[in-house]
Amino acid sequence: MKLLTEIKARFKPALEALLEGANAAEIDALLSMVRPTQDDKFGDYQVNCAMALAKKLGSAPRDIATALVEQVKLDDLCEKVELAGPGFINLTIKDMWLKGALSKVIADTNLAVEQVADPRTVVIDLSSPNVAKPMHVGHIRSTVIGDALAKIHRFIGHKVITDNHLGDWGTQFGMIIYGYKHFVDEQAYQQNPVQELSRLYKYVRVIVDYHGAAKALPEAQELKQKQLGALEKIQAQDHTDDKAKLKKVKKDIQRLKEKIALQDELIVGFTKTLNSDAEIQAVAAQHPTIANDVLVETAKLHEGDKENRELWDKFLPHCLDDIQRIYDRLNIEFDYVLGESFYQDKLASIVEELTNKEIATESDGAMCVFLDGFEAPMIIRKKGGAFLYSTTDLATIRHRVEEWKADTMLYVVDHRQGDHFDKLFAASEKWGYTDVELTHVSYGTVMGDDGKPFKTRAGDTVGLEGLIDEAESRALAVAKEQNPNLEEDRQKEIGRVVGLGALKYADLSQNRNSDYKFSYDKMLALKGNTATYLQYANARVHGILRKLDTDVEKLRSSTDDIIFSEAVERQLAMQLLRFDETINEVLAEYRPNLLCNYLFDLAQLFARFFDQCSVRDAASSEIQLSRLQLCGLTSRTLTCGLELLGIESLERI
Ligand code: ARG
Repeated sequence: MKLLTEIKARFKPALEALLEGANAAEIDALLSMVRPTQDDKFGDYQVNCAMALAKKLGSAPRDIATALVEQVKLDDLCEKVELAGPGFINLTIKDMWLKGALSKVIADTNLAVEQVADPRTVVIDLSSPNVAKPMHVGHIRSTVIGDALAKIHRFIGHKVITDNHLGDWGTQFGMIIYGYKHFVDEQAYQQNPVQELSRLYKYVRVIVDYHGAAKALPEAQELKQKQLGALEKIQAQDHTDDKAKLKKVKKDIQRLKEKIALQDELIVGFTKTLNSDAEIQAVAAQHPTIANDVLVETAKLHEGDKENRELWDKFLPHCLDDIQRIYDRLNIEFDYVLGESFYQDKLASIVEELTNKEIATESDGAMCVFLDGFEAPMIIRKKGGAFLYSTTDLATIRHRVEEWKADTMLYVVDHRQGDHFDKLFAASEKWGYTDVELTHVSYGTVMGDDGKPFKTRAGDTVGLEGLIDEAESRALAVAKEQNPNLEEDRQKEIGRVVGLGALKYADLSQNRNSDYKFSYDKMLALKGNTATYLQYANARVHGILRKLDTDVEKLRSSTDDIIFSEAVERQLAMQLLRFDETINEVLAEYRPNLLCNYLFDLAQLFARFFDQCSVRDAASSEIQLSRLQLCGLTSRTLTCGLELLGIESLERI
């Protein structure tokens, strides 16, 4: 029951008539100017396209708006159609129409959300951590955004395939293989393989970094000297009378000072690494070629070396168990977990095919796909013969199109990989995959309170498991405070549902394109746009229904009229009707935060409704029934919306 779609459908023929010969995209662009109003003194919906049309048609916007209103049939739908300002058309929907629509939503198990007419096969590439290192805070975004997009696409009838494209073949395995061969504590490995592998990974990383710092320190110092020299030279010119020149000189000085500060920071960092504890210094001295040796171990694995392959086979199941534990806690499942290793035997033939088709050409011994509009080519085979991340991704596209008949692929991946995906999509188009829609659903970084990427005090990345633990225990503390008399098991369950919900929602409620600041306090706040607020609001509605002994199922089958005795009842009804519209908006831009905003607005409106409209002491039994209907539908909408975001609801908190 999309009210917005209905209004657009009514305006469409009139716009087409007005703009004879216009293409569908132009008409759609004009129709996108039909929007809910921000303030109900302007009615419920506003049509703003007259201003955009004025230039094109060479007439006054108000005249165009008048002509549109004359042509569009609105009398059965609108109570009032008003022209305002330069040419806005304000529509107030008829109460009768709203009530009829609302009855349909109430009666429908799916909240009358329309199913798509042309279901697509949508593959969602999500989570995709590099295994063998513990999952960290950065992985939550791809996992929860991807999961929500999967659920929402499924909800409106698309065929969805979720695929966790694990990084299970990269250089991190070279590191742990090297670490295992040289530094393993066998007993620790027996006791907890993943913990030991993760220690080995970090240990090797530290030594590699030590050598990196040893090499980089003198370079940085030399560069700093050069910059200081340049600064001195420019400062000598800082006395000119020429204003324009002076401005430039000042700017250059500023810029150089910034560069020097950056170099200083690097020098401090390198020095710190080099002055690390004596053990690291000693081990580093014993392993002078470690950086290269790690690459050799990776290359050997890729070339099928028996020993390394056996080690990989030995490590991988432990790594997978480890991440599975987290997915279980997050309550997230995948249709497929096809990691990078799955595609390895397909890469050689793909490079060969691309070479034969002259899509890939040799450059400096490497095989490259040169693409219009990109400075650097996409390399698909390195000089020494190694394949790359890009090569695997090409193979993945082929697999998903040929085996799964994918129409759309959504890559929910960090924004820093934007360039990789731009090239990948351009290359696959060149390869002939022109019918499949490829989209990088990118997202920003999780920041700490200090506005820098979220790290522990010691400077490590924040582990995902610790984050879940912390969120749950803080939610448990809130639950205990709110309900000191509840049994402990119930309190724990509330802690789990509320903590996890808060964690997911903190992420989902942000515009995915921006970085966001992580804060336990904010995400578990009982007020404000949080899952906690929504879950408590939902439980409150359930409480009302319980108190009045309402059978929600029975309520659904009764299609008695809704009564608008107070303005807020109509506002709540209008918001409830916009669920369907919201789902569409979320999918148009792959932005789950729009659903969060919608649910937050709904919960707030409900709070106002509940404040102003007594359900228990309603003036008549008809009004009481109508209010119960609004309560029932609010709760169903909140539950459904949260579920689409991968968040559980509780009837009692
Ligand atoms: N494993 C990669 C990383 O952690 C992300 C993979 C994303 N998916 C893809 N098909 N490239 O950076």
